[in-house]
Formats: sequence, C-alpha cells, structure tokens
Amino acid sequence: MTNIAVFASGTGSNAVNLVKTFNSGNRIRVALCLTDRENAPVIEKMRELGVETLYFPRSVWKENPQVILDVLRAHDIKVIALAGFLCFLSEDIVNAYEGKILNIHPSLLPAYGGKGMHGANVHKAVIEAGESKSGATVHVVTNEIDAGPIVVQREVAVLPDDTPESLEAKVHEVEYLIFPEAVMKTVAGLTPPELPKSVDDAWAEALGVPNNVPPIPHNPTTQQPNNPTTQQPLNFTTPQPNNPTTQQPNNLTTTTDPMPPTYLVWSVVTTILCCLIPGIVAIIFSAQVSSKFYQGDIEGARRASRNAEIWIIISFVLGVLSNTLYLPLMIAGAF
Ligand code: GRF
Repeated sequence: MTNIAVFASGTGSNAVNLVKTFNSGNRIRVALCLTDRENAPVIEKMRELGVETLYFPRSVWKENPQVILDVLRAHDIKVIALAGFLCFLSEDIVNAYEGKILNIHPSLLPAYGGKGMHGANVHKAVIEAGESKSGATVHVVTNEIDAGPIVVQREVAVLPDDTPESLEAKVHEVEYLIFPEAVMKTVAGLTPPELPKSVDDAWAEALGVPNNVPPIPHNPTTQQPNNPTTQQPLNFTTPQPNNPTTQQPNNLTTTTDPMPPTYLVWSVVTTILCCLIPGIVAIIFSAQVSSKFYQGDIEGARRASRNAEIWIIISFVLGVLSNTLYLPLMIAGAF
C-alpha cells in the first residue's frame, strides 16, 4: 500500500475523486489531506470520507515547512497530489519530494500557465483568446510555477457558445480521469516491481550457496527470435570456458545447449556396443538353454543359462556406464 497526500485549498472535487478512486483498493491510499484555508469546503468532504485532514496557516507553509514535512513523514507519504492548492509550496518540500509532487492545472500547459493563471482565470483567458481547444494537464511540481515535466495531458473542445463555467465543467471531467492516471504512473515509478525468483535462485538460496549460473539472456538486440534476417541460429558447439576470446557469457551457447552432436554419436555407438551386442549374445545363450535341456544336456543348459545371465548383467552394467561416463569424459576433453 502506498500512502499519498492531497493538498487542496478549494472545493476539493479532485481530492474527493482521488479518494473514491483509490481508497477502496489495496494499492494506493489517500492517507492525508492538508489545506492552507481554515474554512475550505474540502475539509468537511475529506473528513466525511474518513481521510485525516489538517489545516496549517500560510505562515507555517512559508516559514516553517519542516512542520509539514514531519507530518508527511509521520504518515509515510510517498507521493503528493496538489488538487487546487493555491498556497506557495516551499522549496524544502519540493526538494524533499522531488519528482513525487503532482499538480493538476486546468489548461493545456505550457499554454495558460504561470502566475495568476488558476481556476476561472484560465477558462476566461482561453475563451477570450478564441481557442478551439483547451484541456487539463498533470505535471510534476518543480520550483518554477506550472513548468515541471508533463505526466498526463488531455484535450477538450472549446465550442463557440462555451462560457468559463461550462468550459470549467468540461475540464473537470477530464481532470477526474487524468489525475488518478498520473498518480498511478508516479507510484508505479517509485520502486521497480519485484521480479519472481528463478528456480535456480530459489534452490541456491535454500541450499545456502551462490548461484553462478548465468541467466538466459533476454536481450532483444542479440536474440531477435522473430527477425529471420538477423536471427542467429542456436550454436550447439561445446562451451569453451577457458578461452576468453571465444567465450560468450550471454550467448545461447552456454546456457541452452540441450544436446551436443558428440552425444548423439556416443549414444548410438554405446547402444550398439553395450546393449545390442551383449543383448543378442544373451538371447543366443537363452535359446540354447531350452534346446540343450530337451537334448538331455543338463550341464550344457546350466552353462548356457549362466552365460545368458552374465551377458544380461554385462549389458546392464555397460548401459549404465555409457550413460554416466559421457559427462566426465566430455569434461576431460575426450570429445
Ligand atoms: C481544478 O480545476 C484544478 O485544475 C485546479 O484547481 C481546480 C480544483 O478544483 N488546479 P477542485 O477543488 O478539485 O474541484
């Protein structure tokens, strides 16, 4: 849960909208509302919504911003939303929350921004200038008025019969959309999302050993699986850990080689030598068991039976060895 604070001086419809958008969820919470006007309508509205609301006179905002910062820290506030806040915001606060204070402005900034441009003044100026469009902007607060980087901006059409009041109503409608959007963007940028642990990492952690296995590369510039012209075929050559000139730590060679070609040769040869040939010999001896038995050669049948058993064991042992010896022989450089 990320706590945010709203600063407001007026009616507070944007503040209310932020509370209604976020406080029923479990990601972002408007935990505090601060105002510089003792009788601002926003106070009552926020209290009705259960949001702690505090009033500080302008002298505190201007001369003693540390008091405000202490309150913000006590509430673990991570982002501040200025929703119609008409008071001077001290550099101390702006610097303490650099990049994390958002302001909503009722025009398409940089047009109709700056000193004196707030509320009805903006809409009047837009209509008097005969603009065909206006809008709302959420920007990051810096020490220059209305000049910080824009986070979200949206237009509304200005019609010939629009009045400052009707334009304000239209702008308010888009404000209710873009302010929560900008808050979510800012909160999302606070900390990178925690990536789930890989299976290797989880095992390494459980066993208390370092995980030295290089991760499978996700670099689109080297992998490019969908571009047939630049796609590099999987390289199935044996990794060469001791050769620094050919070693490619992030190349698929070292991490995704499923089966080197020498293993195919090895498995065909060992299957023939270890399983097929001893297996055939074992079958021949088994066949001799019954024929010798019916010929009355009991001793011969016993011998054939023993030989069949021996060759079955040989086949089994060689089969096991062939499977387990490949890796050590490969590491020893036999292939
Ligand atoms: C909004 O129009 C906002 O753009 C400006 O002040 C007005 C506040 O309105 N900064 P409200 O108090 O949220 O209704």
